[in-house]
Amino acid sequence: MKFETYEGSLRDLHADVLVLILDAQNELFEVDDEALQERLAGARSQFSAGKLSRELSFAPKDLPIDTVLVYHSDLEKNYGFWENIKTFAARGIRFGAETGRPRVAFALNSADGLEHVGKVVEGILLGSYSFEKYRQKPRKLFEDSVAVLWTQSAEKAQEQIDQAEILCHATNGVRDLVNESASVITPAALVRKAQDLAASHSLQVEVWDQARLTQERMVGLLAVGAGSEHPPFMVSLSYQPEAPSDVHLVFVGKGVTFDTGGISIKPAEKMHLMRGDMAGAAAVLGAMDIIGQLKPKIRVTAIVVTAENTPDGKAMRPGDILSYRNGKSVHVENTDAEGRLILADGLIHAGDIGATHIVDVATLTGAAIRALGYSFTGLMGNNRTLINAVTRAGGNHGEAYWKLPLPAEYKEYIKSSVADINNLGGPVAGASTAALFLQEFVPEKTAWAHLDIAPTFWKEKPWKYYGEGASGAAARTLADLAYNWAENTAR
Ligand code: BES
Ligand code: ZN
Ligand code: ZN
Repeated sequence: MKFETYEGSLRDLHADVLVLILDAQNELFEVDDEALQERLAGARSQFSAGKLSRELSFAPKDLPIDTVLVYHSDLEKNYGFWENIKTFAARGIRFGAETGRPRVAFALNSADGLEHVGKVVEGILLGSYSFEKYRQKPRKLFEDSVAVLWTQSAEKAQEQIDQAEILCHATNGVRDLVNESASVITPAALVRKAQDLAASHSLQVEVWDQARLTQERMVGLLAVGAGSEHPPFMVSLSYQPEAPSDVHLVFVGKGVTFDTGGISIKPAEKMHLMRGDMAGAAAVLGAMDIIGQLKPKIRVTAIVVTAENTPDGKAMRPGDILSYRNGKSVHVENTDAEGRLILADGLIHAGDIGATHIVDVATLTGAAIRALGYSFTGLMGNNRTLINAVTRAGGNHGEAYWKLPLPAEYKEYIKSSVADINNLGGPVAGASTAALFLQEFVPEKTAWAHLDIAPTFWKEKPWKYYGEGASGAAARTLADLAYNWAENTAR
């Protein structure tokens, strides 16, 4: 995939396909060709009248372009304009690649168009991703593709291309980690990933191995990792801005590299998807990849808590009681509710390193999927400003969050008769009781948000510009939260 910018007139545009995106409120382009203008006016009314249910495709007269593709926002009424642009951009570049028309131009030559170059590039880069590593013949569909961005300012377009490339390469990196087998992405592999990021973006990295975790009484990681051949780790990756920052934003990511359920073992059906139970860890690493390059004004640390949850003679057992470093004891009623056990260690550590704001990210509950379906990440927390900031940051990237309740009333469900709390809630409100459990480990005056990405980390079928498989959920949201901190937290 290559990107080119073009500032000239339609006559001299060198492309096989020209993509035109129509919308009722936005004018992304101006074409100085009468025949084409007429055709578009006709298309506009046909789309709006619901007479066209897919893109309009035709060969233009007297232009050196093979195919014109016209999309209209009315085709995708479920999503906002930015998401539609990305979706159409992904479809346009795919059409070109699949039909042997590698040069695909996107008409963005109005003031409005120039503002949206980054969205088109995001759609193309996220839309052309697929996990090909294990095929005998990897598909190289987009190898020869060239996206030509036809704008008023090549320079301003290039800035947006550069930024979108940083965002999308990091997101696609997250997708690679989540798609990859659990035999390859072990806790140690996540540690190496963090170390690589530290080296490439000059971040501080600190790794706690099993011995150190024992010293530090990180009992959740030790217990969850006890049954595995692959020992657990806690890794912190820190970004420090040039000017001192009062804000210390800390991300905590769940990195269960495979969740069998442990002794409370899961059924075989779809268990393979539990190689993605480290998607929260991958997301916080992806966010640091972006943050290390876009260099926000605030201090940011990512804590990865990583272990493999598997049954064994040495594995933690239902009925075990863990005494955490913050003094709280937890009864393990079900070893499959392991995410909260390791996140508790991460949250305690976040407090210890002076977090002012904590955002944890985890594929935590099936209950979140039942509540929300696959289009929304579950969002809970103790601070309205932070919750709104996460929602706003996500909105900048088409990542949708939906607030679920965190009622103190439901603490009753995680009461234990033998310990301070139980790791299993009752039969209802599973996403909320999991979050209430986590809250027990958040320092009281620290702003905290919890992102349950179980609904969104994986696409069983293509959706918007995403193909099947890992979506890279939350990485761009977290990065945006940091680099647009002032805007996102305003009011
Ligand atoms: N990793 C799972 C949650 C999950 C399920 C993520 C499906 C993505 C897709 C988590 O560790 C788990 O097993 N949760 C249990 C909790 C229960 C035992 C309280 C669940 O959701 O069933
Ligand atoms: Zn589990
Ligand atoms: Zn899990």
